[in-house]
Amino acid sequence: MGPPLKASESKPVPEINQASQAISASPPPLKHVAIIMDGNRRWADQHRLPRLSGHKEGVKALKKIVSHAGAIGLEYLTVYAFSSENWQRSREEVRYLFELFANVLRDEFDELAENRVRLRFIGDMSTIPARLKKSFDRSMEDSKDNTGLNLQVAINYGSRLEITLAAKRIAAEAAAGKLSPADVTEDLLNTYLFTGEIPDPEMMIRTGGEMRLSNYLLWQAAYSELYITPTLWPDFTPENFDEALEEYAQRNRRYGGD
Ligand code: IPE
Ligand code: IPE
Ligand code: MG
Repeated sequence: MGPPLKASESKPVPEINQASQAISASPPPLKHVAIIMDGNRRWADQHRLPRLSGHKEGVKALKKIVSHAGAIGLEYLTVYAFSSENWQRSREEVRYLFELFANVLRDEFDELAENRVRLRFIGDMSTIPARLKKSFDRSMEDSKDNTGLNLQVAINYGSRLEITLAAKRIAAEAAAGKLSPADVTEDLLNTYLFTGEIPDPEMMIRTGGEMRLSNYLLWQAAYSELYITPTLWPDFTPENFDEALEEYAQRNRRYGGD
């Protein structure tokens, strides 16, 4: 449980700079951070606990990071909770994770809403359990006017799936005569992604040390700064988050230019 946080709206701007100078330092301002929350089961192994209990510990870490991100005035946080490839895990683990998502949403929604968090679930919702999808939809609807942190939770998310679904919808509109090939620009394709109008992340953090993107935000992170830490997700603290933001401020972003 993180400390109770106040609505980021009511926080004065100087506090953003106090908590992390990186947000307003020399590279473009950091508005959007994406996180691959990896290492839950290794954390449980290290602590000689049942492997799946690592996911519960991961939720505690997420609560603290969300609270902190809101408190320092970050605009967007997008976290990877379940990939389209994670269905390959055991039935037991998949069931455990979906129950955990349902319970966390039920238990935490009110506090998130009090803190003006706007919640979005991104991913292919067509194959997730109907009841869970209903509560996702309700929480998105109920938080849509919130003006604090925009929190995107990626569930049954995979970039190749996302881009394929976008291509399919664009092709259908073209076949129906609503779009012509000349209309298909990067901006247009962007609007067909699960992330829609959300700006690209300036930085992508991966915990657990793996040097890969695991099918996460491949389009959106084309020019994101990568920050990979060996720290396992349940051990990742707001201080570690600030360290990542500080490192971002030192990066020289060139986007292919000089
Ligand atoms: C990340 O932790 C959470 C999910 C993928 C759901 P893992 O479950 O991948 O834990 P490790 O990487 O095996 O330690
Ligand atoms: C990425 O972690 C997915 C999530 C954090 C939800 P994985 O543990 O599934 O990634 P790989 O298998 O190491 O690439
Ligand atoms: Mg993993």
